[in-house]
Amino acid sequence: MSWRDFWNGEHSIYVSPRHKALHYHAIASDVIAHVPAPDAVVLDHGCGEALDAARVASACGRLYLCEAAPTVRDKLRAQFGRKVNITVVSPEEVEALPEASLDLVVANSLVQYLSRDELKALLETWRSKLRPGGKLVIADVIPPDVSPLTDASQLLGFAWRGGFLMAALAGLIRTAFSDYRKLRAQYGLSTYTPDAISELIGEAGFADLQRPANFGHNPHRMTFKATKPT
Ligand SMILES: C[S@@+](CC[C@H](N)C(=O)[O-])C[C@H]1O[C@@H](n2cnc3c(N)ncnc32)[C@H](O)[C@@H]1O
Repeated sequence: MSWRDFWNGEHSIYVSPRHKALHYHAIASDVIAHVPAPDAVVLDHGCGEALDAARVASACGRLYLCEAAPTVRDKLRAQFGRKVNITVVSPEEVEALPEASLDLVVANSLVQYLSRDELKALLETWRSKLRPGGKLVIADVIPPDVSPLTDASQLLGFAWRGGFLMAALAGLIRTAFSDYRKLRAQYGLSTYTPDAISELIGEAGFADLQRPANFGHNPHRMTFKATKPT
């Protein structure tokens, strides 16, 4: 099994429906905070189920939801197919978007599942699809020194605040015996120091690198924002 198979199948990354709903609500709010204008064209790359995408779509002109997993794309189409300014796309369809047509690209919790070369290729794609002055936000990047135990304790804190602590405890036990843990042990997750990912973003032609607050509930992970020069 690869990461791609994992995301395409049934998994229990979200420990309960409440966890999933609170997670996607928070991510949607974080995306909205970066939307530059009400008519902005936004790409959420590696969006997952994006349960609160309708709220993001209400805050921008057009929202592209890009998912590699076909089963997740089917769920997105079932949920958002009738929303006129949401378009569900595959990574290949992102490649086919017109050059310089996007105002904001967001990728939350994606780059850890990509090889360094895959990230470099995506940075090229994102730069070509963004308009001059457009913004790129790469969020939830894992630094090399953060252990799975930190992730677990951050999840428990989120669960305590969100009222799903018992589900989170059960979920952590399930995860310990799950495909996720095996894949994490087998393939690892891509991690970056702030300097290493800043260098890649700069080499891809982005400027004005900033470090806004991280998306979601884990402040031990990092968010980077950069601009395509005019
Ligand atoms: C950890 S989930 C994050 C989902 C969402 N961004 C969030 O914040 O909850 C990673 C998602 O990225 C998708 N993915 C992985 N590689 C991808 C790629 N190259 N292009 C688009 N999506 C990808 C996976 O299928 C999965 O749904």
